[in-house]
Formats: sequence, structure tokens, C-alpha cells
Amino acid sequence: MTREHILELLKDVQDPVYRKSMVELHLIKDVMVKESGVALSVILSSDEEERKQQLRQHITETLQKEGITDVHIRFRAMTEFDREEIARKGAPAPQPAKPVVTDLLADGSSTTFIAVASGKGGVGKSTVAVNLAVALARKGKKVGIIDADIYGFSVPDMMGIEDRPEIVDEKIHPIERFGVKVISMGFFVQDNAPVIWRGPMLGKMLKNFFSEVEWGEIDYIVLDLPPGTGDVALDVHQMIPQSKEIIVTTPHATAAFVAARAGAMAVHTNHEIIGVVENMSYYAFGDHKDYVFGRGGGAKLADELHTQLLAQIPLGAPDNHPAEPDYSPSVYKADTEVGGMYLEVAEAVIRKCES
Ligand SMILES: Nc1ncnc2c1ncn2[C@@H]1O[C@H](COP(=O)(O)OP(=O)(O)O)[C@@H](O)[C@H]1O
Ligand SMILES: [Mg+2]
Repeated sequence: MTREHILELLKDVQDPVYRKSMVELHLIKDVMVKESGVALSVILSSDEEERKQQLRQHITETLQKEGITDVHIRFRAMTEFDREEIARKGAPAPQPAKPVVTDLLADGSSTTFIAVASGKGGVGKSTVAVNLAVALARKGKKVGIIDADIYGFSVPDMMGIEDRPEIVDEKIHPIERFGVKVISMGFFVQDNAPVIWRGPMLGKMLKNFFSEVEWGEIDYIVLDLPPGTGDVALDVHQMIPQSKEIIVTTPHATAAFVAARAGAMAVHTNHEIIGVVENMSYYAFGDHKDYVFGRGGGAKLADELHTQLLAQIPLGAPDNHPAEPDYSPSVYKADTEVGGMYLEVAEAVIRKCES
């Protein structure tokens, strides 16, 4: 088996953007034939994960038919240099690629959903959702956040977002902030007008957040759920299958008791609970901690739900200033104490979801 032979076998693999043989375009290269198998590089004109998987499978199967069992493929995204190189060699200009509908809920989607829920409002659910999303992005993950609290949307304000998403080719382009792609009901409401959603409309709107939004490749979607355990919360829970959940509570015993109901709802909708975050746990001054809202609620709740207490976040708004270029009222900086706590929550989430 020679390099030429391998390229001959793969000559019919088409590039979806240039609509031409990838071998002819030199997008399959560095072919190395060794005793143990074949290694090659593939340059992707569009880096959708799905396309990558398809190519991997196709190339591996084609070569396996010829008895080559060990196939090693390296992928890399096309650079400007590659494009110029192709243009120089007289290949046709790339066809405008159709927007790829990446339905995050589709079968085989590699996106992990993490819903953040609480028993009642005002416990810091949105704050935790936003800071978890930012921390996951700081850990190098591709992250989106959906503000699914359709009546109480607050994520854009908390992240300091003033822009509205653009709509290109009938697809909504999320706003990116701190490396997180953001979609919120608040983007589609004028002048903070109240929204009244009937069941079917609510479902349609939320489904649109998954399928009509140009998400691109996403590892994690964090969902800020409506608070409580009423109809709306239940509807939203049910609309998002295969989601994992984090429950937010304050340390007070009754708060934890109410939060347990949100936990029960997660179990009812087959969502795996990956942990509890206790927020507003204490007020710190110097080395002294004042447990203003009581103690132990988070640990007790985690115990009841057979899960882990992921963090105890103290009272205190982030020390951000409106004059800063990247101002946000609610995102803690990575190098602050609370920012570090959220990084640890993100690490725990990654451990639980990726092992
Ligand atoms: N650890 C905290 N310390 C101080 N204020 C907080 C903390 N967590 C949240 N808050 C504030 O409490 C209010 C409620 O938080 P929010 O995240 O909107 O809760 P929820 O989404 O559960 O209603 C907001 O004004 C938020 O800025
Ligand atoms: Mg909220």
C-alpha cells in the first residue's frame, strides 16, 4: 500500500463547501503509510463536529475495506493560507455554504445541557447560571446560555449586554459575551414589556432557541430555568430532555426545603442532578464569617438529593465598575475569590459530565 494508492481510494470524498474532491483540493494530505497502519491529515472547510464525525467514519471505513485497520486522522480547520492556495490553483470560488442547522436537541448532538433550577426566585439562580457559563468558557469549553426564565429573564442585564442579536438567513445569531453565546427572551421583548405566553407558544419559543439559533459547535448549554415548581417550570423541564441539573438554594432550612421540590421535579423529568450550589452562604469580613441566613441548608439538600454540595458562595456583589470596558454587574472576575469558586464548580461539572 502506497501513499498514491491511499489517495486514489479517497479521491471521491467531496468537500461540502467547494463541492470538489478533497484529494484534488489537497485537503487530504500528509499521508503516511506505516506497517501498523495509515496516518493522514484532513483540512476542514467547515468545522462542524458532525462533518468531522462523518468524514472520520467514511475514511476509516473506506480504508478498512482494503484491510487497513489502524487509521489515524488529524483534523484541522482551513486557514486563510489554505484558501489562497486553493484559489491560486484555480479551484472554483467556494459556494456560499447554506447555514447549517445545528439543532442542539437532535439525536447524536454532543452538547451537554445543564439546567440551573431553584425552588423559588431570588436565591441567585441566574447569578449562578451566568457565572457557571462564564467559568466553563474560561476552562476552554464552547458554551452557550439560554435564559429560559421566560417571565423573569435577566441574563442580558446581568452580563452587561446591550446589543440585540442579528438575524441572518432567518437564523438568530446569539450575542457573545465573556466567551459565552447568549440567547434570552429579553432580546425579543420591547421596552421590558410583560410577556404572556400560552403553553403552545411557550413551547414554540423555547424550541426556537434550540433550532433557530446559529449556535455553531457547543460543548455546554447552561439553562437558566424559571424558578419554582409551577406549570411553567414543569413545561420547561419537560421540553429539555437529557438535561443535567444544578439546584441553587440559600443556606436557610426552609429555602432548602422548598428547593428539594425543584429536585423532585428534576427526578420526575429524568434529569440527573449533578449538584447543589448554596448561594449567599455567609457574609465575610476579614477572617470572620457571619452566617446571616442560617447554616447547613445546602449540605442538607445535597444529602437529600443524594448529590454533592458543589460550592458555598458568600454574599457580595462582584467588584466591577461601570467604567470598565467589559462591564457586567454580575460576572465575577476569574482572579477573585468567588470567581475561583465558580471555576471549581466548572471543574466539577466537567469531571461529572466528561468522564
Ligand atoms: N452571592 C450573592 N451576593 C450578593 N448578591 C447576590 C448574590 N447572588 C445573587 N445576588 C443578587 O440577588 C438578586 C437575586 O439574584 P438572581 O440571580 O437574580 O436570583 P434568581 O435568578 O434566583 O431570581 C440579584 O440582585 C443578584 O444580583
Ligand atoms: Mg433569575
